[in-house]
Amino acid sequence: MNDATNNKRGCKLHMPMGTKLTLSFLSIIVITSAVFVVVGIRLIGDRVVAEAQEKVTLDLNAAREIYLGKLNHIHDTVRFLADRYMLMNSLLSGDAQRTAEELARIKEREGLDVLTVTDKNGVVLLRTSNPGQAGDSQCDDDLVRAVLDRKEPVAATTIVMADDLRRESPALAERARFEFIPTPKARRRAETGESAGMMLKAAAPVFDPQKNLVGIVYGGVLLNRNFELVDKIKQTVYQNVVYKGNDIGTATIFLDDLRVSTNVRNKDGSRAIGTRIAEDVYQQVVKAGKPWLGPAYVVNAPYITAYEPIRSLGNKIIGILYVGVLEQKYLDIKQRTILAFLGITLVGALGSLALSYFISHKVSSAVQKLVSASRELAHGNLDATVEIRSNDELHELADTFNSMAVALKKRDEKLKEFARTKIMESERLAIIGQLAAGVAHELNNPMQGIVTYSHLLLEEMPAANSTRELVQKIVTQANRCTGIVRGLLDFSRQRKPQKRSININTVLNECVSLVKHQSLFHNIQIERTPAPDLPAVVVDPSQVQQVFMNLIINAAEAMSGGGGRLLVATRYNAGDNCVEIDVTDTGHGISQENLERIFDPFFTTKEAAHGTGLGLAISFGIIKEHQGTISVESEVGRGTTFTVRLPVTAEEPA
Ligand SMILES: Nc1ncnc2c1ncn2[C@@H]1O[C@H](COP(=O)(O)OP(=O)(O)OP(=O)(O)O)[C@@H](O)[C@H]1O
Ligand SMILES: [Mg+2]
Repeated sequence: MNDATNNKRGCKLHMPMGTKLTLSFLSIIVITSAVFVVVGIRLIGDRVVAEAQEKVTLDLNAAREIYLGKLNHIHDTVRFLADRYMLMNSLLSGDAQRTAEELARIKEREGLDVLTVTDKNGVVLLRTSNPGQAGDSQCDDDLVRAVLDRKEPVAATTIVMADDLRRESPALAERARFEFIPTPKARRRAETGESAGMMLKAAAPVFDPQKNLVGIVYGGVLLNRNFELVDKIKQTVYQNVVYKGNDIGTATIFLDDLRVSTNVRNKDGSRAIGTRIAEDVYQQVVKAGKPWLGPAYVVNAPYITAYEPIRSLGNKIIGILYVGVLEQKYLDIKQRTILAFLGITLVGALGSLALSYFISHKVSSAVQKLVSASRELAHGNLDATVEIRSNDELHELADTFNSMAVALKKRDEKLKEFARTKIMESERLAIIGQLAAGVAHELNNPMQGIVTYSHLLLEEMPAANSTRELVQKIVTQANRCTGIVRGLLDFSRQRKPQKRSININTVLNECVSLVKHQSLFHNIQIERTPAPDLPAVVVDPSQVQQVFMNLIINAAEAMSGGGGRLLVATRYNAGDNCVEIDVTDTGHGISQENLERIFDPFFTTKEAAHGTGLGLAISFGIIKEHQGTISVESEVGRGTTFTVRLPVTAEEPA
């Protein structure tokens, strides 16, 4: 289990705090930057394309205006011409030659490809573009028909079939002809060419002064291979800006799906007329009649485009007007913006990284300082301090650490001082002990001699001898000396305890029976409360008896003035598993000042003849030897209780 736990701990990578902090910051920065970059690139991409698309949609509006402007110009020209009755009248009245010249001049001036006058039934009187061709009826022409019906001018884009074109002018028919040129995305079609022409056309009625319709004038501009309109759109809307060798903006007029007029270029730089539209765009614009706004493949490059249908007078979709800008330009803008964005993000991330490294380093070096100061403190250098210059919790922590070190140092000094005094004290006691033991040992033999001989002297001395009293005093004092010497020997622990298991009540019984008949106890009432089932203790009975005798005699001496009560009680303390013995008296008590000194050797308040001051010191030593304790509680004038605690040990001594 332990091994498993250790292994588990062992597997954990020990990593410095600074590295951990830097790694945490790094992961936050990397994740944030990654999200930022992904979202940012997406937003930039969408935005750039959306902007371009909006612009192209507006460009288509401008292109339409230019287209309609041209149609209006033709409309106005034809209408004003129809209103010039004098000119028309001369034609109608047969003066064709002069009128033809005038009309040809107007046709040239106004840039018209067709300018024709018919009679009131639509039969051609004069074709300025092909003067030899007249007399045919133009009643089937949409515009002529409309003028005949409505008697007012009309203008529209129309499809002119090849035969009609040829009648107007063989050159025009030739100009209108296209062989289809294949391109990668062109819509598939069975035909291989187109011979019809797409024309901006206007027709107006000619009235006599009485408001009778006398003829019709119509004129038009063939859009096939006429680049005036598309180039004007390119110039007006895109200012002919060139991007990487290509026109940035392009415009095209389609006849159905065929580019008849465009400035979109083939790879060789020629105009991409004769090429055709992509199928999906065709379906949406021509078949469904809706504008196409979006990216599309035009001839051989991707463009952002806008297409809308061109309708005939009868509202039939006959062609398409297109404008578009090179997608490449916007792709490049997008790329540049993304690169700038990535650069800024990278710089930001690097900046954040540097900042996070700085913060981690600051925090970890502060923590490192604290760690090494703590280590020094643990190794005993209580002068270790930490200096952290900041205005935060780390500074507070360092301050707290420093005050803790100061407090520890103070306590350590106090402890050392205490230990020093204690050591000195015990050394002093040991020296006294040794001295006492030596002196006692040396005095013991001569004292034994004095006691023996003085006894003999006393025994052999007749009772009437006057010096007998003096010898008696020698015996008494010699006995006293022997007692002191024995006490000193006991105190210096010359004797090893002879332990055996015994019930402490038995020891106390003996003590009480030894003293109760002595004169000292005559006025003293002795009370005993022995615990009935007291466990046995393993002690040296004679040494323990010596202790209790001492306590009992001290108690009696404290009550020697006028009697009192002596209580000897025992009990078992199950919590500490020990036997407790109280010796209580109702004597004079011990002052607070003396309480601290009563266990000191030679401390006595008794006269020199009565006390050596060794009794409690010896008792203390004996009880300590038995792993017990002795304590005292006293109140001056009321009495004293000494409590001895002896541990109950299961085993018998060896
Ligand atoms: N029960 C007590 N009541 C009041 N004072 C006491 C009591 N027991 C001890 N003392 C005080 O403690 C001092 C020390 O006692 P200790 O037994 O060590 O020496 P002693 O009794 O003076 O002399 P010795 O015991 O050698 O005859 C006594 O002098 C006394 O002042
Ligand atoms: Mg005593």
